[in-house]
Amino acid sequence: MDKLNKRIVLVTGATGGLGTAMCKELYKDGYRVVGNYHTKEKAEKWMSAMKAEGFDIQLFYGDVSDYNSTGEMIKKIESEVGPIDTLVNNAGITRDGRLLNMKPEDWHAVINTNLTSVFNCTKHVLQGMVDRKFGRIINISSVNGQRGQFGQTNYSAAKAGMHGFTKSLAMEVAKYGITVNTISPGYIGTDMVMAVPQKVLDQIVAQVPMGRLGGTHEVAHLVSFLASEATSFVTGANYSINGGQHVY
Ligand code: CAA
Repeated sequence: MDKLNKRIVLVTGATGGLGTAMCKELYKDGYRVVGNYHTKEKAEKWMSAMKAEGFDIQLFYGDVSDYNSTGEMIKKIESEVGPIDTLVNNAGITRDGRLLNMKPEDWHAVINTNLTSVFNCTKHVLQGMVDRKFGRIINISSVNGQRGQFGQTNYSAAKAGMHGFTKSLAMEVAKYGITVNTISPGYIGTDMVMAVPQKVLDQIVAQVPMGRLGGTHEVAHLVSFLASEATSFVTGANYSINGGQHVY
């Protein structure tokens, strides 16, 4: 594919640990990468840091938990950059706590940001993918959506829901050359994971046969693999990347 005809990838939550690694890996692999951000100050710093490292990646504002905000963002990206070929639904937050302590707002924030966002973003790119007969939708879930985690009823429900979405949509759009897959990372060395109390984190790492946290680049590599033309027969799948923490 020539330089002017590069496939366009949108990564949501681009300024986070995983999002940043994904943007860099996809860029290095030859994609035209655009990212989504939510916090302006963070975005400005991020863009200048990326530029300094030689990555030409533009960020666009959008609150992915909001249907209209997402629609406006995608319209802007498609008019300024071009049609989105690959969507990486990566944006996510945690509001951990036992259900006994969980406030309704902690439940809704996590469900809306981590799961409803997948509906919002996918809804706004899907018709274009159908018309062009090509698309890649990659949903970033979690090992904790597969096995549950003490203190994460909201997060585990959202992450398990993402894979239900993946499986159903994969069936609906296979005939248009669109694949829909889930990646379920385990504990990766991001700010989100490092916010877990050290004692709890030590207990978690002790359950990982590889005995360490995952690297963001390891997840990013898998994202780029699933975005490629080569994976055209892979759909409705869930790729675990957790150092053996959860095998089934
Ligand atoms: N199993 C059993 N009991 C546990 C426990 C566990 N894993 N963790 C805590 N407890 C118990 C404590 O011993 C304590 O019991 P007592 O009251 O009898 O002493 C009680 O639960 C803790 O009470 P708190 O009032 O502190 O509970 P809380 O509602 O504030 O919740 C917590 C604590 C926030 C869940 C804390 O344990 C924690 O942060 N756990 C880690 C959760 C986690 O793994 N999050 C992952 C974030 S990263 C991510 O999500 C990325 C990804 O995809 C992997």
